[in-house]
Amino acid sequence: RVVYVNGRWRPFRSAVVHVEDRGYQFADGVYEVCEVRGGRLVDERRHTERLVRSLSELRIPLPLPLSALSVVLHEAVRRNRVRDGLVYLQITRGVARRDHGFPPPGTRPSLVVSAKRIDPAAGETAARAGIAVVTVPETRWARVDIKAIALLPNVLAKQAAREQGAREAWFVDRDGFVTEGASSNAWIVTGQGELVTRPVGPDILRGISREVVKDVATAEGLILVERPFTVAEALAAREAFVTAASQIVMPVVRIDGQPVAGGVPGPVAVRLRAAFHAHAE
Ligand code: PDD
Repeated sequence: RVVYVNGRWRPFRSAVVHVEDRGYQFADGVYEVCEVRGGRLVDERRHTERLVRSLSELRIPLPLPLSALSVVLHEAVRRNRVRDGLVYLQITRGVARRDHGFPPPGTRPSLVVSAKRIDPAAGETAARAGIAVVTVPETRWARVDIKAIALLPNVLAKQAAREQGAREAWFVDRDGFVTEGASSNAWIVTGQGELVTRPVGPDILRGISREVVKDVATAEGLILVERPFTVAEALAAREAFVTAASQIVMPVVRIDGQPVAGGVPGPVAVRLRAAFHAHAE
């Protein structure tokens, strides 16, 4: 395995960044995770657009032109011979003497790109069983629409899930509404058959998979309602599921130990998962 670090391809075990990288010291950076399927990057354009937005919101310059970045992403896939897996990209504000304010002009942002294989059968097995989620209070900052590498609340939430035998955690805001998962967007299907997910805004990440599922839903004639939903609503829902580049559409069958949807994956989630890649780019 090789990893791209600031212009060079390094062996995986010796790929390192400086101790004064601002990503390391301040979590001052952004990232993207893109699915690789059949050797192709899924929805590269939308991931790149979101990356550019995250960078511009944080005023981090793009370390190389987008055309060059695209070459690096494809090279990561090719050099690591990934057919099915994920590409991880991270850009930080660069290496500089520790000082909270921005580093001197001319500081080069750091870019790391890696790719790894994932057995697609593992995802399919998980999707056939469905996953359990737990709920945790929303403790993140007010700009989680930026895909920042600062993920402490997500780390703690995911660990809480793991300790309770669950695969994902749902953040719940002060009013009792689910915002999103620790690394996914959250959805339910109501008793009326409506697909419900929280509208985009500063309180959720605009998931690329979320956008794709919106397109699938429209094409399949499903009714989509973008509004917040509560945990109680999710527990009473006909179905629940999450979306992310790393999970596609993953049925949720338990919330805080209580069965949802009779404890089995629902037909809408299964259908959305099956149709997903026909609508992704
Ligand atoms: N996470 N919300 C959060 C907080 C996320 O971290 C992610 C993705 C999503 C879904 O976004 P997308 O559909 O574009 O993957 C929503 C990635 C996969 C991760 O952190 O590993």
